[in-house]
Amino acid sequence: MIIAIDGPAGSGKSTVAKKLSRILGYTYIDTGAMYRAVAYKVKEEGIDPDNPDAVVNIMKRINIKLEPSDNGVKVFLDGEDVSSKIRTEEIGKIASKIARHPEVRKILVQKQREMGKKAKNAVIEGRDTGTVIFPDADLKIFMTASPEVRARRRWEELKNKGLDIDYNRILKEVKERDHLDQTRKDSPLRPAKDAIIIDTTNKSIDEVINQILELVRK
Ligand code: DC
Repeated sequence: MIIAIDGPAGSGKSTVAKKLSRILGYTYIDTGAMYRAVAYKVKEEGIDPDNPDAVVNIMKRINIKLEPSDNGVKVFLDGEDVSSKIRTEEIGKIASKIARHPEVRKILVQKQREMGKKAKNAVIEGRDTGTVIFPDADLKIFMTASPEVRARRRWEELKNKGLDIDYNRILKEVKERDHLDQTRKDSPLRPAKDAIIIDTTNKSIDEVINQILELVRK
């Protein structure tokens, strides 16, 4: 059983996918973490994210590994645990840039398919999991919420970490990332035709999870 969950940044899909995989005992596959790991290396090496050849070159030399953990997943880049280092706004933006290159997507999509097939039962989360990676997924969910609500969630998350960042700046970044992800030619962010759309603007995480569990039961 493959459950594909897609949606924009801040829609709540990571939280939902992690919890859902734990409840069901399925493998959790965070595809965004793989784009982020590449982005982290691109930044470290000072490479231009808009140059597909340079990015692909780096991808040939690195080893990305996802390992299940209590927190969802641990991400290893050439053996180094980069799980928290890749979770910054800056890395998210670079990830979104490198994700525009078809050559980059091809390599990662192949890995992600292999991971899903090996797992047999998986909750796979990202931007193209129901449209490209597993178009035959058993259940496809597309989570969404207004940019304002998504920015507020991010703002609150950062505030809880003790960071004082301007809400309007976060809103601008959320909109920029939506634009990058939705306008790329290869696998743009959009719901699959047979996806069930869940608007999380006025819903709690548990409400969303219960809704999905009901769909799984059906
Ligand atoms: O879900 P996330 O914020 O960790 O993803 C970071 C970026 O990676 C996202 O803005 C676009 C890219 N991405 C993608 O293009 N396809 C995926 N399946 C997952 C992420």
